[in-house]
Amino acid sequence: MGLRIVPGSANTVLAGAIAKSLDTEPVTCKLDRFPDGEMRPVVNPVRGDDVYVIQPTGPPVSDHLIELLLLLDACRRDGAGRITAVVPYFGYARQDRRGRSGEPVGARVAADALAASGAQCLVVVDPHSAALEAMCGIPVEILTAVPALAEALAPDVPGDAVVVAPDLGAVKLAKHYASLLQVAVVRKTRLTGATVRAEEIAGHVAGRPAIIVDDMISTGATIEAATQVVLAHGGTSVIVVAATHGLLVGGAARRLRGLPIRRVVTTDTLPQGRSAALALQVESVAPLLADAISRLHHNQPLAGLLART
Ligand code: R5P
Repeated sequence: MGLRIVPGSANTVLAGAIAKSLDTEPVTCKLDRFPDGEMRPVVNPVRGDDVYVIQPTGPPVSDHLIELLLLLDACRRDGAGRITAVVPYFGYARQDRRGRSGEPVGARVAADALAASGAQCLVVVDPHSAALEAMCGIPVEILTAVPALAEALAPDVPGDAVVVAPDLGAVKLAKHYASLLQVAVVRKTRLTGATVRAEEIAGHVAGRPAIIVDDMISTGATIEAATQVVLAHGGTSVIVVAATHGLLVGGAARRLRGLPIRRVVTTDTLPQGRSAALALQVESVAPLLADAISRLHHNQPLAGLLART
């Protein structure tokens, strides 16, 4: 089976960089639209091939998800030998449980739809919740960009720095960043989709510079609240914020620019064009994804690339 990279429209630059690392040309895909906005992607032949469809489901999340489902179905109906959905940022992952009755479990709905459309394996990078694996009826490979981001932070990190998890959900991530540093945790309550309240912090930040880490920055409200709590509790500065996924919606760039943060480091799981208002350091996940795809293609283990290793 030949290895084929099928790029969705959500991040063609990343798909191109992955294909280049793998020394292959991306498969030509054309995204037609009906006048009412309905999408109809057309994929060049992939019969018998080992296909990797690259599509992060960032904003507009639902459009990118539907396009991904259509691409998977197109590859399956064309007779692809094996189909892997590579979804570096997995939208709907935050809906991994019902917060109150009447809500859906959106992550499960998205996972079921991928499998039903033809995905035989799913590759993601630092998803919001590791519960995603248990929700999927197909194998899920959870890669992590933390080592690459940690390496990018390293030059700025003094020995007395403390790694701050802006909420309980980020503690595991913070521990991964901080195998040698101390971790503090902010208690955060989400009030609405774009507002949060952070009041307390567990751990010692007084007199120390802080590194705030999270899986994603959406509106920037969480980072803003965590920064305020760190400074209110005597942290000397927030030297850097690191998050794998830079969604940066709803005025996030302006919000972050107004904070006393020296640097924001993220990756290119999502295109970063829309964040031009903010000076971001963007580390590419293309080498990580290309390495994983190459190993999957050759049926080799992913040791060293996975979140759990
Ligand atoms: C939620 O728990 C996530 O890990 C992030 O903290 C959250 O999605 C960030 O959103 P925002 O930037 O809008 O606060």
